Amino acid sequence: MRGVVLTFLLFSSHLYGAGSSSYPLDDVSPDLTDKESLQRGARTFVNYCMGCHEMKYQRFQRVADDLGIPEEAMMSNLVFDPSKKLGAHMSNSMSVSNAKQWFGNVPPDLTLYTKLKGGPEYFYTYMRTFYEDPSRPFGVNNLLYKNVGMPHPLVHLQGIQKKVCKDIPKIAKNGGEMREAITGHPLLENKCGDELVNRGVSPLELVENSGELSIEEYDSLIYDLTNFLYYSGDPSRLERQRIGGFVLLFLAFFYVFAWLLGREYTKEIH
Ligand code: HEC
Repeated sequence: MRGVVLTFLLFSSHLYGAGSSSYPLDDVSPDLTDKESLQRGARTFVNYCMGCHEMKYQRFQRVADDLGIPEEAMMSNLVFDPSKKLGAHMSNSMSVSNAKQWFGNVPPDLTLYTKLKGGPEYFYTYMRTFYEDPSRPFGVNNLLYKNVGMPHPLVHLQGIQKKVCKDIPKIAKNGGEMREAITGHPLLENKCGDELVNRGVSPLELVENSGELSIEEYDSLIYDLTNFLYYSGDPSRLERQRIGGFVLLFLAFFYVFAWLLGREYTKEIH
């Protein structure tokens, strides 16, 4: 029974991450050994996200140490608030009531975000699925998070994405394409955005030349940001894996002596 509960707890964060949307998540493999990627991610975070989002369980000093950023470079490039010291938490001064009034929702703290909600795949997909929607207060919506309160902070870099609308064949209950009885032409229906996903059609398209970066460059920017959030969710992960290796080695070594000692003890028991 306990096993069942534990298994459920293990997977529940991923269920939660999927939210109400059935939009499939894109794969991403964070790489904590890639310090340059982590540094670029940290830079994007403080430049474009920290005005609204805090990382209040993380300190600038720790980020500098872990990512190999010299203290001076950290202070002059990544700490914008002159009253903040290197040892300060990565917080901002936006009040909860202001945030509620401006955005309808409070921007969540992002320190543990990839651990709590959906993992790095959710974040990576979320940051790439904003699309134009004039009915929303900031003119954008998101395929993963319907009616999201966050404006798209990187739209000048990514460019404007629009929902694709297409006439595609109607599918009958038995899974086959529906056809007109007499002519045999396929019966079509007009579908838009995420309704197209199940039919293997890309739900969004980029308005040409509306952003400063190419699609690949934008994906790589978001990859670095994902990497940084993945790191911040568990800053000692790399260190732990390294020490884990030594612990296993020690156990293997210790086993030999424990076994020899055990043999010595049981020698006279028949
Ligand atoms: C102008 C303020 C603002 C900026 C800048 C901003 N966000 Fe947000 N963000 C919000 C608000 C408000 C929410 C809460 C939205 C909601 O719950 O409707 C949010 C929510 C989120 C979420 C949670 C989504 C979810 O599914 O729970 C993530 C992740 C996120 N932001 C990442 C970022 C990143 C990364 C950046 C920088 C590239 C950024 N945000 C910049 C205001 C902002």
